[in-house]
This record gives sequence, structure tokens and C-alpha cells, in this order.
Amino acid sequence: MKNKLLGNISVGNFLRDYWQKKPLLVRGALPDFQGFLTRDDLINLACHDDAQSRLITRKKGKWEVRHGPFTPRVFSRLPAKDWTLLVQDINHFLPSARELLLKFNFIPHARLDDLMVSYAPEEGSVGPHFDSYDVFLLQGMGCRNWQISAQQDKRLVMDAPLKILREFRPEQEWMLEPGDMLYLPPGYAHHGVAKGHCMTYSIGFRAPTYQELVIQFLVYLQDHTEVEEGIYHDPNPGFQSHPGRIGPDMLQQVGAVLNKITWGPTDIERFLGIYLTEPKHHVFFTPPSNPVAQQEFAYQVKEGKLQLNLKSRMLCRGKNIFLNGDAYTAGAAACRVLGKLADRLALPMSEELDDEALSLLYPWYLDGYVEIVKVSADAV
Ligand code: SIN
Ligand code: CO
Repeated sequence: MKNKLLGNISVGNFLRDYWQKKPLLVRGALPDFQGFLTRDDLINLACHDDAQSRLITRKKGKWEVRHGPFTPRVFSRLPAKDWTLLVQDINHFLPSARELLLKFNFIPHARLDDLMVSYAPEEGSVGPHFDSYDVFLLQGMGCRNWQISAQQDKRLVMDAPLKILREFRPEQEWMLEPGDMLYLPPGYAHHGVAKGHCMTYSIGFRAPTYQELVIQFLVYLQDHTEVEEGIYHDPNPGFQSHPGRIGPDMLQQVGAVLNKITWGPTDIERFLGIYLTEPKHHVFFTPPSNPVAQQEFAYQVKEGKLQLNLKSRMLCRGKNIFLNGDAYTAGAAACRVLGKLADRLALPMSEELDDEALSLLYPWYLDGYVEIVKVSADAV
């Protein structure tokens, strides 16, 4: 089926021909899109303690990066041209940002990172660079000129506070207008320069390095490995003429203990679910100030008022449900309902709610992981 967001090619064709392979420019991907944030909204967010933001400036050709939270005064002192403010995790703050991310549901949530929004006045740019993740660069307000290159030369400017390519050799160039979108696979060199006031919405995907996966899996195993009781022992040590050497008996005994560390598909599944839903270090949840009782909560859920908190990450597999770095197991009926919540980030009206699902959902509600919807308007 044709998909306008992908330039009238089907999701299947996009995944086969472009995803992780080559760039795709889509004119009018979201025809009337102007963005849902003004410059001042973005500045307000960059002044919040729990938003991650960066301000990139260039003075006499020298790059500078400052990290938020900022005070509004910082922005009143900036020059008229050539700076960029970038704010990550906009989807943690605005329902409309979540709505936008849901349009990219053809990529599994396990791969999604966040929505980052940038604001730049004339000439603002973060320089020619490449990212190690897939990204859809959707143009909001204003225009941005994009140059891209398939170059293999990934050498960076030394001593710069951000990744800038030493030699950028553009091969293609377009001016993106509101609603246009450019998909770039990981490692594709790009350089965007604002033409007038400009806001760009980056839908970014996460791809952990193998090293990160292995290290985190070993951390998981620390808490999930059964180690038999016992202490290293050598009741009958033979005389060792070189006391400075590690003897073969010791190696053998320690090797035998370590070889008992085992893991299987269930560990891999649970590790992945926990790892992928772990909140970023700066994310905190606020419990509801006046929580409703469990019975009222159940009623509201059946009325279709339940949604995941904007900061929550939820995934599921089989009878395992993962939410914000914790794993839960549930029966088939509960998993069916909770799986819907993981897919849609909200539950539809009249969803049958069995006792098991309720016994999981209600504590999540008290922790601020899920919530009862009151108003749908964005509040920055
Ligand atoms: C920007 O929004 O200014 C930069 C986004 C990017 O190059 O990844
Ligand atoms: Co980039």
C-alpha cells in the first residue's frame, strides 16, 4: 500500500530498498506540517531541568557546544545568525510529538530513540557530519538546505567539541521546505544549513553497539545467574617450586566454576526487554498527586482513558511485558491487553480488563508510568 509519508512508496518497499541502505527525499511527506513548537517554546524546554539540550555556536570559525539546562538570558545574548539549539526527547513533553512518532510505527518501537527538534536562525548549522543511527529529518517551520554524501572518508576535525567532517564532499543537495523529509541511513554524511529561521524535527532510531550490548548483558547476568555456594579450596596442594606462578589446579577449579555460568533464549529475551525500556538517566516519573481508587481506575480504563506516560517505554514478547526497565510475566488475557498498550501507547475504549492486567496496571499508575487522560492539549 502506498504511503504518502514515504513519497508514495509502500512501507515494504521502503524497508527493502532504503532502510539502512540509501537516502530518500520525500517532498510533502506531511503536506501541511509547520511543526508544533515555536522558537520560544523550544527555548522554554531547553531551560527545563529534565530536558537534554545543546546550544551550538561558531565564533570566527571555532565551534562551541554548551549543554543545558539554560537560562532565558543566554538566548537574548546570541547573535542574529549562525547558531543552533537542539533539544532531545521532545516526545517526553508533548503529546503531539508522540503522535508524530506514531506515524513511524512501521519501524518497531524497540528501535526508536526520540524526537529531537532544532531551531536555527539564518546560517545556523551543526556542521558537516555523520550520525551512527537512522534518522528522518522532517522540516518544520522555515527552510533548510541539505547536502549529503556517500563518502567513506569519515575523518573528523581534531579538537572540535562536536563531530565535524574534516573533508566533506557533497554529492546531492536540496532545499527542504515545511513538510519535506529526508531519510538518511547510518553513517551517511550530511550538512544542513538554515535559510532564514528554521526548525527541523529529527526522528532518530537507536542501534546499540555490540560492545554496549555485551557489557549490559554481563551486567544483567550479575543479577540473574545462579552461582553454587562454595569457596575456593585446596585441601591437598602439591608443593609448587615457583610460588610466583598461577598453578594448573587453581586454573582448573576456577574454570570449572565459570563454565557453570549459562544462559539461554529466555535470558536474552528478558535482558533485551529490560535494557531497551530502561529510562535514560535523567528521566524521572511523577506519581499522580490525587490518585483515584483501584475501582475507579478500572472504570476509567474501560472508558478508554488509559495511556502510557509520555516518558514511559514499553515492549512485550510472549508472556513477558517490559516497562521502564522492569520485566513482568502475565497470562494470555492480560498479555493481550498489555500488548495493545505497548503497540498503541494507549488502550482503546471498552477494553476487557482482567484482574491480572488490573493488578499490574494499577501499581504502574501509582508510579506514574501510565495515566488517566484528562485533557489532550499540549502544555509546554
Ligand atoms: C539539525 O537539526 O540542525 C541537525 C540535525 C542533524 O544533522 O542530524
Ligand atoms: Co545529523
